[in-house]
Amino acid sequence: MKCRIDKKSCKVFLNFGKMPIANGFLRKDFKKKEYFFNLEVAFNERLSLFQLSRNPSPQKMFNKHYPFYTSSSKNMIKHFKNTAKWIKKKYLKKKSNVLEIGSNDGTFLKNFKKEFSLGFEPSKSVHLIAKKRKVNSFNFFFNKKNLKLLNIKHKFYDLVYGANVFCHIPNQVDLIKTIDKVLSKNGTIIFEEPYLGSMYKKISYDQIYDEHIYMFSIASIEKIYKLFGFTLIDAAPLKTHGGSMRYILKRGNVLKKSKRLKNLINIEKKYKVNSFKGCLMFKRKVELSKNKLLKKIKHIISKKERICGYGATSKSTTILNYCNIDNKIIDCIFDTTKDKIGKLSPGMHIPIEDYKKFKNSTYKYVFLFAWNHRKEILKKEKNKNIKWFTHLN
Ligand code: SAH
Ligand code: TYD
Repeated sequence: MKCRIDKKSCKVFLNFGKMPIANGFLRKDFKKKEYFFNLEVAFNERLSLFQLSRNPSPQKMFNKHYPFYTSSSKNMIKHFKNTAKWIKKKYLKKKSNVLEIGSNDGTFLKNFKKEFSLGFEPSKSVHLIAKKRKVNSFNFFFNKKNLKLLNIKHKFYDLVYGANVFCHIPNQVDLIKTIDKVLSKNGTIIFEEPYLGSMYKKISYDQIYDEHIYMFSIASIEKIYKLFGFTLIDAAPLKTHGGSMRYILKRGNVLKKSKRLKNLINIEKKYKVNSFKGCLMFKRKVELSKNKLLKKIKHIISKKERICGYGATSKSTTILNYCNIDNKIIDCIFDTTKDKIGKLSPGMHIPIEDYKKFKNSTYKYVFLFAWNHRKEILKKEKNKNIKWFTHLN
């Protein structure tokens, strides 16, 4: 296949098979044939870029039914509050203007004055919540076409921010060129995304699903943005979403880069995060992980125990469909999200139940799909008799 950015050859190396839309929860009485695509991964060595070979259209994924709400995690609300505070102190002045891409239910922008901030959010479900919270949210995809349509001021924004969204955007060339249009001369781009290095370390292959079209690394971000005249000046590892990386970029050829960035680049080289060798090592480990998980589940079932899941994450769609774990193996998945409760999980059709019922249930073995929220969930569900497990341990 051809790389999505430089349009030259790219090595396909890992195939997860037939996959549904990761956040495509189905009504129990669904009639329309479920959509599937082939989830396959490729690597471009020139840009060190890990990417999906194909993806469903963004409109299929991000629409009025999109069920992921940033505010479903208290820790994430706190995280975005702290992030806003840090950004204001380090990069903004009193009257600086902020633009957020993928502002979802407004959790991050809520920390900024309405008149100095703007969010682009194509999914109507979450956009309406942001509006209710008095956040300045536009129900549009962030791209060059919509910029023209909306008459957005050029070179106006001192900060362009995004979290867990840059990797969702298939056309990175359009994305970066559009940012270039709106960002002020001395402006800053900051974004944080699930990190390839963390995925390699944990073998958290469930980070790979339709929305995550790219799994970025520092090497890839540095190379891609250089093509468009931006310099990566700093990066910071984050614990959120099971291991993310925050990237900080400026216009032009900035020579001063942080010491931390230089260290992180060396670590990426050491663990082959920047090269195809890393992909092949990861592939082998993913296959071993699948076998180990299926053995574990077989063992539990052999003891005549029943299993439920906790956290109907989009990530779980990859595990369940790749390992072919269906509603005969996992009875149900407990979750807090109103839009998911009462529905069926994509592909494997496992019922989603209200988390409030979990306390009185008798499951001994619980697959923690929202393993990235472990602390927050275990604090809430203190039952000592439960054996929580994941595909990671
Ligand atoms: N930033 C939030 C939401 C992440 S989920 C957080 O970190 O919790 C990704 C969000 O980006 C979704 O709400 C989705 O609708 C939105 N999105 C996807 N493609 C987009 C695009 N091209 N422009 C703007 N937002 C987009
Ligand atoms: P998350 O891991 O944040 O994202 P993704 O869907 O992108 O993998 O998903 C969190 C899911 O877990 C969401 O459906 C809400 C649910 N959840 C709970 O049920 N209880 C909790 O305490 C938390 C934090 C999340």
